[in-house]
Amino acid sequence: MKTVMIVVGTRPEIIKMAPIIRAFQKNRISLTFVNCGQHHSHNMSQQFIEELELPTPDYEYKVKAYSQGLQTASIIARMERLLKKTSPSLVLVEGDTNGVLATALAAVKLGIPVGHVEAGLRSFDLRMPEEHNRRLTDHISTYLFAPTKTSENNLKRENVWRKVYVTGNTVIDAVIQQLPIAEKKSKILDSIRFEKFILATAHRAENVDDFTVLKNFMEAFAEAPLPVVYPMHPRTKKRMLQNKIYAKIKNSRNIQILPPLGYLDFLVLMKKCEIIVTDSGGIQEEATAPCIRKPVLVTRLSTERPETVEAGFAEVIGVEKRGIIKAIHKVLDNRKELPEKSPYGDGKAAERIARIIQKELAF
Ligand code: UD1
Ligand code: UDP
Repeated sequence: MKTVMIVVGTRPEIIKMAPIIRAFQKNRISLTFVNCGQHHSHNMSQQFIEELELPTPDYEYKVKAYSQGLQTASIIARMERLLKKTSPSLVLVEGDTNGVLATALAAVKLGIPVGHVEAGLRSFDLRMPEEHNRRLTDHISTYLFAPTKTSENNLKRENVWRKVYVTGNTVIDAVIQQLPIAEKKSKILDSIRFEKFILATAHRAENVDDFTVLKNFMEAFAEAPLPVVYPMHPRTKKRMLQNKIYAKIKNSRNIQILPPLGYLDFLVLMKKCEIIVTDSGGIQEEATAPCIRKPVLVTRLSTERPETVEAGFAEVIGVEKRGIIKAIHKVLDNRKELPEKSPYGDGKAAERIARIIQKELAF
């Protein structure tokens, strides 16, 4: 029997694959669900599988961090063994993590085709491991699901060798499907100290592994003109503890640090906040969902999501303390109406991807 193996490994992959898993179930496409385990803490991984009511993974691993190379190699080795054992007709991966590249490599070396969801994003910043991962994965994939025309154009410019489809981004599907549930179930607002607040996240390696940048972020949040609610990624917490600034920031009156939150709680905070300040990829996209529509300040030097900037939702504000504070003031002082449509589609990307796969594999 033909089967598609859907592989996830980190928080955003679980969130963005969830609508595809549902669309597969609805269209009766046989699937094997695998968690390759790049994220291993409960609140970065299983929490999302449970909350999004996904099936229990058929195969599940936990990969301890080691180095980037060893993490990638360890996932290749595990996935190769699993792919040999299960022989799926297609392996579907999403995004740009080490787990995505490792899984795609393991598959192509066994002659198993790969489908890449969220293909064609480019930051043109080769400091980022994600930029290596997404470029390499695109060039070894058979089916490339580009979220937008811009990502399709990136792929055409690089002459990728196989089929490109523009589908929208499944994160919009996820927000539309989960926000009504979140608004019913989440109690997160009961524990937030502030009425009006900025929602912040930071975890990109090129930011938080650089102590100067990490310090810039924390000082900007401590001095921001609105209080900051900050669910902290484990990478960032580790760096803050190593650099001995965690306790000071935890005690700052202007910052409320939270552990990594479940998706429902996070959606409610996105809906309620005044501004989002982030270096996350997925959050830049979610801010454009018609039911969220929030201004986003991107604390980076580049973005692989230029659609958010072009549509007027986002600004790339760099990583300097003064620049961050100035940009927050600017948004608060010049409120503007944001577009009603998201550049990432209509919330039906997963259904499109499922139908394309059904047709291509003649299920
Ligand atoms: C990874 C991805 C990044 C993605 C992010 C989503 C790569 C190169 N990076 O970054 O693109 O945006 O996931 O959140 O693939 N840690 C835990 N528990 C966990 C996960 C991480 O404690 O469940 C800590 C560990 O100390 C680990 C560190 O965070 O060493 C970094 O984790 P890793 O998966 O290597 O990278 P992320 O920063 O999470
Ligand atoms: N998210 C979450 N809880 C949090 C922080 C983020 O559920 O505490 C969600 C967020 O809504 C988005 C995804 O996690 O869907 C983004 O993950 P992350 O920023 O870790 O990775 P990136 O998108 O940058 O790869």
